[in-house]
Amino acid sequence: MSSRIIPVQPFDYVVFGATDDLTKRKLLPALYHRFKDGQFDEQSRIIGVSRSTLTDVEFRKAARDSITQFVEKEYQDEKVIDRFISTLSYVSNDVNDEKKWGDIKGLRDDPKVVRAFYLAIAPDLFGPTCEYIKKKGYYRRDARVVIEKPLGHDLASSEQINDEVSKIFKEDQVYRIDHYLGKETVQNLLALRFANILFEPIWNSAHIDHVQITVAESVGAGTRGYYDESGALRDMIQNHIIQLLCLVALEPPASDAANALRDEKLKVLRSLKPITNADVAKCTVRGQYRAGSVDGAAVVGYQDELPEDKKGSRTETFVALKAEIENWRWAGVPFYIRTGKRLVSRASEIVIQFRAIPHSMFDHAEGAPRPNRLVIRIQPDEGVKLLMMIKDPGPGGMRLREVPLNLSFAQTFTERTPEAYERLLLDVIRGSQTLFMRRDELEAAWMWVDPIREAWDAATDAPQPYTAGTWGPTGAIALIERDGRTWHEDGH
Ligand code: BG6
Repeated sequence: MSSRIIPVQPFDYVVFGATDDLTKRKLLPALYHRFKDGQFDEQSRIIGVSRSTLTDVEFRKAARDSITQFVEKEYQDEKVIDRFISTLSYVSNDVNDEKKWGDIKGLRDDPKVVRAFYLAIAPDLFGPTCEYIKKKGYYRRDARVVIEKPLGHDLASSEQINDEVSKIFKEDQVYRIDHYLGKETVQNLLALRFANILFEPIWNSAHIDHVQITVAESVGAGTRGYYDESGALRDMIQNHIIQLLCLVALEPPASDAANALRDEKLKVLRSLKPITNADVAKCTVRGQYRAGSVDGAAVVGYQDELPEDKKGSRTETFVALKAEIENWRWAGVPFYIRTGKRLVSRASEIVIQFRAIPHSMFDHAEGAPRPNRLVIRIQPDEGVKLLMMIKDPGPGGMRLREVPLNLSFAQTFTERTPEAYERLLLDVIRGSQTLFMRRDELEAAWMWVDPIREAWDAATDAPQPYTAGTWGPTGAIALIERDGRTWHEDGH
C-alpha cells in the first residue's frame, strides 16, 4: 500500500442499477482499484440492487467479468479480485412495486460504518427509490445519496428531480456527480491557479485575451439510445464544460471546503451573459456529423445510426459557442467553447490565450513575438504547456521562436492516474462534497442553457452538417474568426 493512501471508514455502499452499464464499466472497476490500493478492506460491503433475479454468486461472477473486462490487465490480481468480490452481495428489487420490494440485508447500524446509496438508475426512479429507502427504514440522517446526470432536461425537470430526492435527503446528504470534476487534470486546474503565485496576478481581462475550451470525441453517438433526446448541449455543455469554465473563471475560494468552492462557482454561473434569441445565431453553432473517416476507418453519419423512427432528427452532435462572463475580472474576455462527437480525435483541452506584449523591441522581420498561451491538456496526454517566445539559438540576429515549456504528467509521474470515479466514490464516504454539484449550481447552469435550447428548437434550420473526422462545421471556424481569432491547433 502506498504511503499516500489513507484508508476510509468502513462503509455499506448500496448500488442501485447494479447490473447496468455504469456499474459494470466504471463503478466496480473504480472500487476494485481503491480496494487493491488498500483504501478499504473486507470490513466494507458493496450491495448491488437491481430488478434482475440474481443470486449473490451470480452477481459476484458478473462483477468478476466486469473487472476482467474493464480493469487494465496489469492491475488484475486474482487474489485481490477474490477478496474484493467477497465484499459484494446482491438484492433483487423493483422499487415501483411494493410487492417486489427486496430486503437489503445486513446494513449495519453502527454510526462508524458509513451508509451510502448510489442511484445508477434512470432519474424517474430517483423519487421511488428514495421513498423505498425511507419506508424500509434504511434512511439515516448521516446516510448519503449519489445521483448522476441526466439530472433533468431543463430547469423545470431538474427542479422536479431535486424536489423528489430532497423529500427524503437533505442537501448535505446529496452528492451530484459530474465525473469531469473527478478527473486529475481538472482538479489540477485548482492546483495550477491557487498553489502557484505565478498565474493569479495575470488571470484577468488585463492580461488574458480569450479562453478556449475544447472537448472533442472521436466516438459516435447515434447508437446510444438516450443521446438523440439530449444532444451535445445538454450532454456535455450544461454539465462538464460549464464546470470547466467555472474552475477557470472562479475567484480564489477561501478554502477547499465544499461550500467555499461551490459559492464561487455559483457566482460565475450567475455572471454568465444570457444568450438570448437575438444572440443565438451570432454566438452559437450546432452541427451534426455525416459519414466520413475517423482514425483511418470509414464511419457512417449520425442519421444512418438512428433507428427508422428517429430519422430526420435535428439533434446536434456538435456545439460551438461564445460565452461571456459579466464581472470585473472577465469583462470583454470571450470563452470559446466547442464539443462534438466524431471529431478528428479524442482531445480535450483548455487554452488560456494571453494578450500580446504592449510594445516589441524586436525587428519583426526576425519573427514577431506571439502572445503566450497556457494549454491545459485534460485528456489524453494529460499535462500543462506554456508556449513562450525564446531566442532561436545561433548567431545572426535575434530570431524569435515559440517553444513550449512542457509538463507531461506521464513523464513526470510514475504512478497510475486514477479514474475520476475512484476519487468521487470515496469522497462520498469521506463526506467531502467539494467535487460535487450543489443544487443551486445545477439550476443556474440550466437557466443559462435553456434559452439556447429554446431558440434552437424554435429555429427552422437544421444543424450544420460536418464530415466525421474533421473539427466540425465551418460555422465553428467562422464563429471565432469573426472576432479575429483562431482555434488552437497543437503544433508542438
Ligand atoms: C458523458 C457523456 O457524460 O461523458 C458522453 O454522456 C461522453 O456522451 C462522456 O462521451 C465523456 O466522458 P470522458 O470521461 O470520456 O471524457
